[in-house]
Amino acid sequence: MGAPVLGGTNIPNSMTELTVRRLLIDLEQPVARHWCNGDAFLTAWFNALSMSFPIGEQFFIDSVRRGHQSLPAAQQARWKQEVQGFVGQEATHRRIHALFNAQIEKHGLVNAWGPRARERLKRVEGSDPRHGLAITAANEHFTALFAEWMLAHPQLLDGSEPRLKALWLWHSAEEAEHKNTAFDLYQALGGSHEWRVKWMLRVTLIFLSDTLRQTVHNLQRDGTLWRWSTWRSGWRHLLGKGGLLRTSARPWLAYFKPTFHPSQQHSERSQQWLSENSALYTRVGA
Ligand SMILES: [Fe+2]
Ligand SMILES: [Fe+2]
Repeated sequence: MGAPVLGGTNIPNSMTELTVRRLLIDLEQPVARHWCNGDAFLTAWFNALSMSFPIGEQFFIDSVRRGHQSLPAAQQARWKQEVQGFVGQEATHRRIHALFNAQIEKHGLVNAWGPRARERLKRVEGSDPRHGLAITAANEHFTALFAEWMLAHPQLLDGSEPRLKALWLWHSAEEAEHKNTAFDLYQALGGSHEWRVKWMLRVTLIFLSDTLRQTVHNLQRDGTLWRWSTWRSGWRHLLGKGGLLRTSARPWLAYFKPTFHPSQQHSERSQQWLSENSALYTRVGA
């Protein structure tokens, strides 16, 4: 693997202030089999994503920490708070999704994605820290697109238990909030556009195939893979008008522009959700 170097360092004008929040929900209680509005497809899709979080978000944390340590000493202090906020948010996400995953695994689901991702990510261990950051930035772009879609369609969770609705919307809001961090660190370390784009192409292939594979796996275990209603829901929510993949195509493409920055994509819904739902969480360290 080569070094993703090109151009000089690029320091962001302002740092992002990130609050770590503890979500006040109980995930010790069982979760309904089709917890997402009674929809087998959406449940399997969200379950698949959740299965990737404990391993994936640990990788993002490690990559951002390594990137931070690779900065010149003079710059590290400037980044310290943002990095702490990022790590705190992702650590909370992975912890709470591990609890959620333990509940859905009681339905007989098997997480094949997590172990596969762990093996794959070992290949970048010890390489230039910008590789880990480019992978993280690409995944964070995906997560930000998903978060935006989720916050724009909260009705998808209308028939779900309030604690599960809170889980997914809180995670989405915080993803939108910290979407700049890995990208800015990559830029600050002089990461090239060429490598950023190469990693985005690889991450796209891997992320989409892994999500679909785990979703199908979940549906098979659930016994709902071959129902018309499952496929209808999949089509509608991914490729139909307003569907996730359909609405995300254009903002996904924007990542390939040399002038792209995550802050160019709007995320007002994130702040709005956080301010309207402050009773659902406490601030850590506040
Ligand atoms: Fe997260
Ligand atoms: Fe994230």
